[in-house]
Amino acid sequence: MKQDQGRFVLRGQTLAFSGNPFEVGAEDAVDYRQDGAVVVEGGRIIAVDAATDILKQNPGAPVANYGDALIMAGFIDAHTHYPQLDIIGSSSQGLVDWLQKHTFPCESQFDDQAVAENSADFFLDQCFLNGVTTASVYCTVHSQSVESFFEAATRRNVCMAAGKVCMDTNSSLGLADTAQTAYDQSKALIERWHGEGRNRYAITPRFALTSSPAQLAALGSLWREHPTVLMQTHLSETKDEVARVLEQHPTYDSYYQVYQSFGLAGEGAIFGHAIHLSDDERRAIAESGAAIAHCPTSNAFMGSGIFDLDATRHAAPEILVSLASDVGAGVSFSMFATMRAAYEAARFHSVVLHPAEALWMATCAGAKAMRLDDRLGNLAPGMDADIVVLNLKSNPLIARRVARAEDFFDVLFAQIIMADERAIKATYVAGNIVHQRTQAST
Ligand code: GUN
Ligand code: ZN
Repeated sequence: MKQDQGRFVLRGQTLAFSGNPFEVGAEDAVDYRQDGAVVVEGGRIIAVDAATDILKQNPGAPVANYGDALIMAGFIDAHTHYPQLDIIGSSSQGLVDWLQKHTFPCESQFDDQAVAENSADFFLDQCFLNGVTTASVYCTVHSQSVESFFEAATRRNVCMAAGKVCMDTNSSLGLADTAQTAYDQSKALIERWHGEGRNRYAITPRFALTSSPAQLAALGSLWREHPTVLMQTHLSETKDEVARVLEQHPTYDSYYQVYQSFGLAGEGAIFGHAIHLSDDERRAIAESGAAIAHCPTSNAFMGSGIFDLDATRHAAPEILVSLASDVGAGVSFSMFATMRAAYEAARFHSVVLHPAEALWMATCAGAKAMRLDDRLGNLAPGMDADIVVLNLKSNPLIARRVARAEDFFDVLFAQIIMADERAIKATYVAGNIVHQRTQAST
């Protein structure tokens, strides 16, 4: 899918972050241009500036003029499961019931290469349709599922992190591995795929309820031996899960301490959900440099709980909270749906999430969580040209709302609450256009 890339220019409104809006406030964090332009060459962003200056400095470069559409960094989904595509929107009595009734039967089919290949292709196409250009992805227990996923990502030259799910306890339907096979297979996959092209590996124990202490220890050792890979797992998603983990690991004071004690904490660790945490756990996560992936559509759909961003940041102001779809417990690939659900979750705790904060979580924070913020998550010179172009009037109702918006942040807010994949006018990956919404598809 790589195309020959000479220098070209994207013109439109532009949005970049010059700071973290949680730290410096929205006004100072956002770099917005009403008539801006981005220069792209060889898969990288060369310059972002006012359109008049860019056009003067780049005479003869082809220009894609997006008018009043908004050009910004592609979205980053910090926690999702590609094999769970087919069970999205499946009803259950909550996490354990959902895993047993829907998830494990579905994932058990991924020893079949054809199933894995078909799902990987469909998943990545859905990402592009929704402007998601990078994700941290759970595969299944089968090495094959990881191979198929990275092959599909490589064909698209897209930057994805992924890992074999490791689970040797409480597993059924042929989904169990062992401490040793989890270590051996994950290691072989790291050696084959981590850093190959744009691919990144994530060591992936499913969660503390499906990994024995021996398996957690083996994966902790593997991470020490390969410190540049990521580590992803689930943490404190439901109250029942927390109680079961403490029953299964009676010598620990907290759920997070279980991971910590096996060397599964620190920078490059991404903990999905992290809803039911004590302030001590929140501080320990922040101090270690690990990140939380907040999965609000999943949490609401499953009835797992309502993540308290404010309390989390109050306990640990430095904590990094990224946003994630958690497909298929999460019900949408769309980061608009995810940001809207994050706004709603914040409202349940009486907090107003600013649109700049939501967009920062859906881009820069994900890149930081994945330790890719020197390359991804922002519109800036030197960054990879993973870019999304948003139609800010993607249906007549949004157009009416935007026409009476108070200011640019209000325009953004309307998108977060009302937009869906029809707002994604174009998606660029390493400078190549991978999705373009035509008149017919709107
Ligand atoms: N906890 C353990 N496995 C899973 C999973 O696949 N999805 C979610 N949402 N939570 C989990
Ligand atoms: Zn998950």
